[in-house]
Parts: sequence; C-alpha cells; structure tokens
Amino acid sequence: TTTRFYDFKIQTTRVNKLCNSNEIVTVNNMFPGPVVYAQEGDRLIIKVTNLSPYNATIHWHGVRQILSCWFDGPSYITQCPITPGQSFTYEFTMVKQRGTFFWHAHVSWLRATVYGALIVYPKAGVPYPFPFPYEEHGEYWSQDIVQLERQVIASGGVPPPANAYTINGHPGPNYNCSTNDVYKIDLVPGKTYLLRLINAGLNTENFFAIANHKLTIVEADAEYTKPFTTDRVMLGPGQTLNVLVKADQPIARYSMAIGPYISARNAQFQNITSVAYFQYSGAVPSSLSLPARLPNINDNLAVKTVMDGLKGLNTKDDVPKEIDATLFLTIGLNVNKCRSPTPQQNCQGMNNGTMAASMNNISFIKPTVSVLESYYKGFEDYFTPDFPAAPLRFYDFVNGAPNSAPNDTNAMNGTRTKVIEYGTRVQIILQDTGTVTTENHPIHLHGYSFYVVGYGSGNYNPQTANLNLVDPPYMNTIGVPVGGWAAIRFKADNPGVWFIHCHFDLHQSWGLATALIVKNGVGHLETLPHPPADLPRC
Ligand code: C2O
Repeated sequence: TTTRFYDFKIQTTRVNKLCNSNEIVTVNNMFPGPVVYAQEGDRLIIKVTNLSPYNATIHWHGVRQILSCWFDGPSYITQCPITPGQSFTYEFTMVKQRGTFFWHAHVSWLRATVYGALIVYPKAGVPYPFPFPYEEHGEYWSQDIVQLERQVIASGGVPPPANAYTINGHPGPNYNCSTNDVYKIDLVPGKTYLLRLINAGLNTENFFAIANHKLTIVEADAEYTKPFTTDRVMLGPGQTLNVLVKADQPIARYSMAIGPYISARNAQFQNITSVAYFQYSGAVPSSLSLPARLPNINDNLAVKTVMDGLKGLNTKDDVPKEIDATLFLTIGLNVNKCRSPTPQQNCQGMNNGTMAASMNNISFIKPTVSVLESYYKGFEDYFTPDFPAAPLRFYDFVNGAPNSAPNDTNAMNGTRTKVIEYGTRVQIILQDTGTVTTENHPIHLHGYSFYVVGYGSGNYNPQTANLNLVDPPYMNTIGVPVGGWAAIRFKADNPGVWFIHCHFDLHQSWGLATALIVKNGVGHLETLPHPPADLPRC
C-alpha cells in the first residue's frame, strides 16, 4: 500500500458566472475541488484547514470507512465541525474498494460548492472487468446555488429552485453570459471512453444523455455492474455511475446534457438543461451541436428502466440470504405544527405550518456534540437509543392503500438513534410516504454499501415482494421509487455511528435522517477505534 497525502484549504473564492461575480466557498480555490486519486488498498491522509468564515467538515461519500468511523465526516454525527481557523486530518484506507467516489462538505449546505471527485483505481495488475477505455473523463454537476439554508429553514417554507446546473463547474451555453462557459470533451473517432458521472447537486435528481450515443453502465456507486446499455441514465444526488461511450458516430459536435427528474407533484422547479460538448476531432467547432434527448421531467418509467438494468457483477455469495433484524422506515415530507407563530416567517409552510421531513414520524435533530463522541464517552444527554424499528403510527403495509399511510403530520422532533448489535444481518425496508407529496428520495447510508434486493411501486408487501438475492447491485445511495419502496440488506460488521439520510440537503435539514449505532465487535479486529487527537471540539 501507498500512503497519499493531500492538503485541502477551505476558503472563499471569487467566481464569475452567469453575469455575476460571487464569493463561493471552495477547496484550494478550485470549483469543483481537487480530484483525489488513489489505488485500492491505499491509505489517504488529507489535512483539511478551514480558512473560510463557515464551519466545515468533509465526507468521503461511498468510502466504507472500515474501522475508521471518526473520519467519516458528517457534522454532529461523527465529528464536531472544523471551526474557522482550525484544521483536522482525515486518515483512512481504501479497503477492498475502487471506483468513482466523491467527497463533499457535510455541514449545512456547504457542499453546494465544496465537493470534488475521489477516483480509486484497481490494484496494479488488476484490470477493469470491461475493455480498457482510451481515456477517462469525470463529469460532475451541481446546482450553482448560494447559501440559502438559513433563510429557508428559518422561514419554514420551500427554497426557490436552482437558477442553473453546472457540468464540471460550467453552466453551458443555455444561460445568460455563458456562451463560452462550456465544458468539452475532445474525442478520437472510433475510441471508447469511460465517463465517471457524479451527481453532486444539492436538491435535484438529474437525467443525463449524449446526443446519438449509447451509454453502457459498468459501475454504480463504485461497484461493478453487469454491462447495461441505455440511451440515458438518472442519478440522484450522491449517486455515481461509470459509463462507457464509444465514439462511433459521424464526425460532429454532439451535446451531453443534464436535466431535472422531478417526481414530486406540485414541486417548484425550473425546467433547465445544462449542456456540455462531446466533440470529435475534426469537427468544425461552430457546427450545429445535435441536442441530447432527455426524458420528460416526470418520466418515472425511464428511471425504472435504468434501475431494472442495474445488476451486480459478482455479488451472489455475499448477499445475506437470512436476516436477523428488519427496520421498516417510512420516509417522507410532512408539515409540522408551527410552534413559534411569531416572528411570522417561521410559519410559511403549507397550512401555516413548518415544512419538515421524517423517518418513522421522527424529524431528526442534530445534537450539539457528535453522536459518535457521546456514544464513545458514554454521555447520555445528546441522543436517545430509542429510534423505533417501525413507524410510530399504525401502518398496515399489507392492506394500506398506496401512498396514503401513515399519517405523519406533526412528526415528532428528536435525536433518536437505532442501536444494532455487531454482526447483525440487517434488512431495511424504505417506504416512501408523506402527507405533503410522495417523491423519489435518494437515501444514503454511511459506513456500508448495501444490496438493493428489491423495489417496487405502492406499499411494500412481504407476500408479493420479489427479492433478488442472486445479482442485486451493491450501492450506497438508493432512489426509492416515488410512492414506492426499496429493500436493502447488509451485514452490520463495521462498528461506529452511521448516518442514514435523504441526500437532498433540503430534506436532510428538515429531518429526513437518523443514525445507526453499530456496536463493538468482540475481538480485537472489530473494536470501535479511539478518537484521533486532533478531533474538533464542540
Ligand atoms: Cu454524500 Cu451523508 O452524504
């Protein structure tokens, strides 16, 4: 193994985009931030110094953090924030993991601009399980949104939609003042390219397509999949996909585009498309860029088609066939009663309430000391271990009418966590619900990848659910079908405190989250590690 060192300086940087000059928070003055490269088995040591005026942490999305839970990064879950002027060094090993990951800030909505790719190559001499590509390109997109969080959360209402999407920091030619602010890939005709796609956006799921070209998915969430060829893909925030694209079309300039997938009814959104160029060498640069064909914004079938195509490459023997514990989690939006009617702006949600979100009728409130530190030190005041294994209100998942139950208006607030014994084979049923609207929620689990053994529309029914225990994909973020369910399985063999939450930052702030505490193993190797000396204090 090689040890690789990186230096991250979080700072404010002035950028000119879309006719405006803005200060944004970046790492090392780059937007997107620096790419971190490693090889499977490598040790990464990344010193993060916070020179910005905001609290910061960095999360290594998709890295399982085997026995290194202190370096996972979600604020108030595994660490207190790195305050302005402070630094913290993250140290972890890429144990049996390779592929496309990304890192992002995990405090307030800072990840809007503080993110970058983490690319982990296979061990030397181990080839990809697909033809070696001529070149690799990273594509990550985000919403060019400034810090809205405080206003939105304080108002109790809903944020305005993003005013642009960006591809590798570039909005593309569809907006004001952006004709030349376009990302471009130059291609050699006949060659095959590997594109590493990352949805780094805050609050929107996106379709991606390239005009006239097919995409062959070979990896999802940094795990290999059986090759699946499609015209377009959909990624929720937090998801990554590797796709192969063959430059087999007539020499021209084509467009690669991202556009929104909006599954919620009555959602506020702008139907905007951001474009980058996919340009063959020899093409006249001014030649017409053929438009990419994206599905309609509410095309649930297009999403299902991609999901149906995701199968693990070699997962068979590792999928837990038996389970020891089931967690049934309802996920959804709700409106909580407004508790402080003055000042008025606190009650701008529907019915003069406060917009909220919950799991099992509980809106997660982040504590003031990290759950991991409290758990490790035995503090009792910062969280409770009583997260319910099923919704608090009666939920008849066999007979319940689709999308109608449970009634989770006025969910309760709490820092309630679920404690899991070491080694438990866990199944989690994620059931989309909500009194406000149903919606495809990208649910992300820290500390593990999980097998997506089933999903469907309507309410989960154990009698009719057809589970795939043979070749399910192994993922870390699952877009639970709108008004539907997903079943995931994993073995709880990594002790620590692991956040599970909706990767829409808005919903996370509204409480669509909880923390799983996986207890110590018995032997030396499975023991909860001790905290590092420079762990930030609250
Ligand atoms: Cu990519 Cu908890 O986050």
